[in-house]
Amino acid sequence: MDKAAVNLLICPHCGGDLRENGASLICSKGHTANIARQGYVSLLGRDSGTHTADSAEMIAARERFLDRDHFSPLFDVVRDMSAGASDGAVLDIGSGTGHYLALALDANPGVPGIGVDNSKYAARRTARCHERATAVVADIWDSIPVRDEAATLMLNVFAPRNGDEMERILAPDGILIVVTPQSRHLNELIDRFGMVSVDPDKEERLERSLGALAELSESRELEWTMALDRESVRDLVAMGPSAGRMAEDDLDAAIQALDEVTSVTAAVTVTKTSSEGSEERE
Ligand SMILES: C[S@@+](CC[C@H](N)C(=O)[O-])C[C@H]1O[C@@H](n2cnc3c(N)ncnc32)[C@H](O)[C@@H]1O
Ligand SMILES: [Zn+2]
Repeated sequence: MDKAAVNLLICPHCGGDLRENGASLICSKGHTANIARQGYVSLLGRDSGTHTADSAEMIAARERFLDRDHFSPLFDVVRDMSAGASDGAVLDIGSGTGHYLALALDANPGVPGIGVDNSKYAARRTARCHERATAVVADIWDSIPVRDEAATLMLNVFAPRNGDEMERILAPDGILIVVTPQSRHLNELIDRFGMVSVDPDKEERLERSLGALAELSESRELEWTMALDRESVRDLVAMGPSAGRMAEDDLDAAIQALDEVTSVTAAVTVTKTSSEGSEERE
């Protein structure tokens, strides 16, 4: 595993430093974590959970969908905003396939990256998303096994947020980029595919979840129209929280009933917390 990344990880049982020891990571108290053959390490603690983790099917659908570049306006913004994390590390909290982590690493030459997700299927993809990426299976709602102030750039894209842990891990001059869906996001598909709609209270929840970091944030709204073929719509449904809500036959029928190309709104908020407020955080 990348040595620089391992140096930023901590033992999920005692918080101690970890070092590589053969095919595992080990702390001074002898707690060990095996490095999976697919290149990721599981650092789940005793109180960590994985019931919210994306399944293999969801991750595969997400990979296919993101590879088709329908989200490229968002990719461009995340890439642009990510630049400037030199001499630190990039941490993606809820990294999924690692697409956004890879963009951020491209924008920051030489910097190591860590993707945290509680899905081992996500970790497998993240481990190979970029040559400087390290993948860790961990629960965002537990202590995240990363050192205090380790991240000079932190990403959190369509994923759960643990404000206290994010604040602990973000370097004093670090940048945090959070992407959340707006209520119009995927509007045209919500009823047709029985999808969970975005909570209109989301903005307030974003502020609450970021805690002290929210005061230092600036948000930008981004909206574009995607021209989706049937396979892209199927993957979009299958990669999100509404996956599996519709019986397979009903899903097939609803996909077949679509026009060859469906216009679908993407509407997201990109929030950036920048270093300017670092003194206020101290
Ligand atoms: C909607 S996906 C977003 C993934 C990626 N950031 C993207 O936008 O493509 C949410 C991700 O959060 C992960 N996740 C959900 N609950 C989690 C938790 N408690 N701890 C860690 N990861 C979690 C899921 O496994 C999934 O990969
Ligand atoms: Zn330990």
